[in-house]
Amino acid sequence: MSLCAVEQDWVGLPLDTGWQMETIMRVADIPDPVHTEAAWRGDRLMTGEDWVYTLDDRQVAELEALGTRFLADDPDLRFVQAADYPLDAAADAVRSWRRDVDFGRGFVLVRGLKSHLYSDALSAAIYYVLGLHMGDPIRQNEMGDLLDHVYATSDKTMDDPTALSSKVRDKLVYHSDSSDIVALMCLRGAKQGGLSCLVSGAEIYNEILRRRPDLAGLLLEPFHWDWRRQDHNAPADTYTSPVVSVEEGVFSMYAGSLYILTAQEYPGVPKLSDDQIEVLRLFDEITYEPGMAIEMDFRPGDIQWLSNYAALHARTAFDDWPEPQRKRHLLRLWLSSHTDRPVVPGFGKNGVVQHRAQSRDGASEHPDARFSIREMSVPRLIS
Ligand SMILES: [Fe+2]
Repeated sequence: MSLCAVEQDWVGLPLDTGWQMETIMRVADIPDPVHTEAAWRGDRLMTGEDWVYTLDDRQVAELEALGTRFLADDPDLRFVQAADYPLDAAADAVRSWRRDVDFGRGFVLVRGLKSHLYSDALSAAIYYVLGLHMGDPIRQNEMGDLLDHVYATSDKTMDDPTALSSKVRDKLVYHSDSSDIVALMCLRGAKQGGLSCLVSGAEIYNEILRRRPDLAGLLLEPFHWDWRRQDHNAPADTYTSPVVSVEEGVFSMYAGSLYILTAQEYPGVPKLSDDQIEVLRLFDEITYEPGMAIEMDFRPGDIQWLSNYAALHARTAFDDWPEPQRKRHLLRLWLSSHTDRPVVPGFGKNGVVQHRAQSRDGASEHPDARFSIREMSVPRLIS
């Protein structure tokens, strides 16, 4: 809703009460609806395949050659640079993916790599090279892993506070990760289920603005988020961040009400107001409405590049194959983008992002730290 529209809406009404003035201020402070490519509905996207980029034979051959050289060189994942593995045939493609992810609809699915014919190590090497060209990989856990695995090693469900979302078969509710870009490469799909679901943050926001403009502004104010459940070694129980940032005209979202609600259990965290609870409830209701999300079935070799600022992601529960070598297996990269996207101070979980060359807090590396692509292409046995 624009400021002009708000003023017009209120023309002719008496302005003699504090409540009305407060309401005008609150509504007037709310940014306009988002009309960029980042505001999309899943049912409309699903009518076409604009969001799928299919690699051609030359590009695949180049990436296979680069991956093979990467495996032979076995560089230290902490220090290797994109310039060491330059792209030619795939250079324009990577540029277009970065534009789509950072400034477009917020994601792209890249198809065409033949992971079913490669060793997992070769798939991981190709993926890491592409990751270097898309951004800068960051550390994903206390062991400093720059490449992590989505691979179920546990039967825990997500109501268990010790469950790690990437190591269980349970469904995951919509959320954002802790990086600028999150990428998943499929090595093998599930026996059944395990769909990857995305929903546009801007479209959710537009719907909230349309239905409850009086509450939308609350999303721009800080919430307390559960840090402990996301990272068992977190330095504090919670951190604060708004759900929506609008800075220099750029809309960004950081969401997932689960960790706002569980943060309420810690002493000292201010209780959510009725309006905050209502806007979070509405947020979730809209998120799960039919037609909002896009659901995609990963095929081996598919890579999904996703901006955490643009779309939320979720996963359906899945059944796995019994053999370890057939289980659903995705490789995950978290990337720091080089775009310097303008966001309000303290937005998201920026404080925990780790530079890839440095161990956490400058301490010595974890005894289990591994920085060779061949070693990192095998999942750790943790639950
Ligand atoms: Fe995630």
